[in-house]
Parts: sequence; structure tokens; C-alpha cells
Amino acid sequence: MNILITGASGQLSSYLFEEADVRNHDAWGVDIVPPGNASAKDKVEIIDIRDTEKLAKSANGADVIIHTAAQVSVQKSLMDPVFDADINVLGTVSALKAAVDSGVKKFIFISSAAVYGNPVSLPISEMHPVNPLSVYGASKLAAEGYVRMFENTYGLKTIIIRPFNFYSSRADADSPYSGVITKFSECVKNNSPITIDGDGMQTRDFLHAADVSKFIHLAMESDVSGVTFNCGSGKAISINELAEKMISVSSKNIDIVHSQPRTADIKHSVADVRLAEELLDFHTSVTIEEGLKELFTSQ
Ligand code: UD1
Repeated sequence: MNILITGASGQLSSYLFEEADVRNHDAWGVDIVPPGNASAKDKVEIIDIRDTEKLAKSANGADVIIHTAAQVSVQKSLMDPVFDADINVLGTVSALKAAVDSGVKKFIFISSAAVYGNPVSLPISEMHPVNPLSVYGASKLAAEGYVRMFENTYGLKTIIIRPFNFYSSRADADSPYSGVITKFSECVKNNSPITIDGDGMQTRDFLHAADVSKFIHLAMESDVSGVTFNCGSGKAISINELAEKMISVSSKNIDIVHSQPRTADIKHSVADVRLAEELLDFHTSVTIEEGLKELFTSQ
């Protein structure tokens, strides 16, 4: 298949390019910044997703668009909701329009588990009520509405994927918005204490970005359309357990300290993964132990 990836310089896209090579697809991408990953350098064109015309040109010849480009910071979404909506909502509408204009048949939208907000039942299935707690969650949810509308109105085949907490050694450690695994691994590398917010009993569903990438490829290659999928491991792990595992795989003596719990922190989150197992035969291949080990062995 011929694939156009938006947000092609991001962490997830570096895995998407590698998986595309393995599966004999031809992938290229667009982003507003060049990729950090050298292997993707000559595959990425600098185009803003809001420039529908340029994007449609780049999509020429593509069978599929994988739309990962987004404003991903929850904090930034709260500080600048107009910018957040501009990228996440209008940017997605622009990418959808570019897909239609260039004759692309399938559109895969990378949404977020943030659309669920505070869960009222666990595990969280795709039928769980959506009630975002952040502007970011709201913009992802609004964009989902447009994705569905383009399927109904323009006949574009669409799939919505809602990843839970994903991580990898390629995450930007310098970003103040990076996730807990990246933060903890930086502490371990610097021999400084790990800080757990609150009692550490809160749980999350972590999966490796390589597994998210595999998931997206399975969805892309399937005949499924008009479906929304959770993308998680289906396993809950507490932040206390995570810190202990991380210290254990690093074989270092690192202290753990507790600080105040985060305001409006979600207590428990775990994906119901049955739909993806059933329709895509998706199962994670990287265990949390393997994923954590990789953080200390990769460059
Ligand atoms: C994640 C997403 C967010 C999304 C939300 C949806 C990431 C980075 N963020 O937020 O975009 O809106 O899911 O449910 O994936 N923690 C510590 N110490 C630290 C850092 C974090 O104890 O140094 C704790 C946090 O308080 C939290 C947990 O670890 O309880 C996970 O935090 P984080 O990785 O930031 O992700 P989420 O809050 O789940």
C-alpha cells in the first residue's frame, strides 16, 4: 500500500515507517519540523496540515492517510485552546478534505483515550461514555466527529484509534509534557529520586509505541471501516509497581519519594481490548519489562 503519514517526524511515526518497511508498504510523510530519526529524513516533506492544497498534492498516489499530526500537550491545550482546536480540529478537517480531494480511500485517525475523561466503569470499552477532562480531549473528540462525518458524507473509509498511555525510548525526554515512563527513566539515568504523585495506587494501561504502530498497520490492512478502537494492553499497572519495575530493570539503587497528588488526576485507567482482538487479532508483543529495559539500552 502507499501511505501518507502526517506528524511524520514524531515518536510514533518513526515506528510507523519501520513497520511499513517490514510489511512492504511505501510510506512518506509530512510535518512542520524535520524528523529526528535519520532514516525518515528523506521521506518527510515540510507541510502544515492546515494547508489543504499542499497536503492533497502530497497525498497524491496514496491509498491511505495515517493522521497522527496533533497538538499533544494537555497543559498547552488549557493555556491556548484556540491553537489546540486549530491544529487538532481544523487540521484534521483539512487532512480529511485533502484525502477526499486526492482520491485517498482510507483515513486512519489517531485520537486519544483522553476522550473518555474520568472512567465510570472499567475496563473502558469503546462504548464507554465520552466526557473529556481537558481541552485536548475535547478537540480530539470533536475531530472524531468530523472523521465519522467524512465517512458518511464523502464515502471515505475511516478508522479511529484511541491509544492509552504509550511510551518508547524515542519520546522527547526534554519535553515538560512527557509521560511518566519517560520522566522516571530520566531520573534513573541521572541517579536522582523518582517522584510519585500521591500514593502511587493510581493505575494506567501502558503499551510500547512499536505496538501502537503494529496496531495501526493491522487496522490499515484490514477491511474494517467506520469503527473506533481502543489501543491498549488491557493490563492495569499501578504507578508504584511501575517505579519498582523500572528500578529493578535498571539494577540501580534509586530512591522513591511521594509528592502531592496531581489535581484532577484520573485514578484508574485500563482499556477493554476485546474489539481489537476480535476484529484485528491484535495482541501486544512488547511486555512492560522488555519496554522498560529498552529505555536503558537504546541510544
Ligand atoms: C495520559 C496522556 C494524556 C491524556 C490522558 C488520558 C501521556 C503523557 N499523557 O495522561 O495526554 O490526556 O492520558 O487519560 O501519555 N506521575 C507520577 N510522577 C511523574 C509523572 C507522572 O507519579 O513524574 C503519575 C501521574 O500523576 C499520573 C500517572 O503517573 O497518575 C500517569 O501520568 P502521565 O504519564 O502524565 O499520563 P496521564 O496523566 O495518564
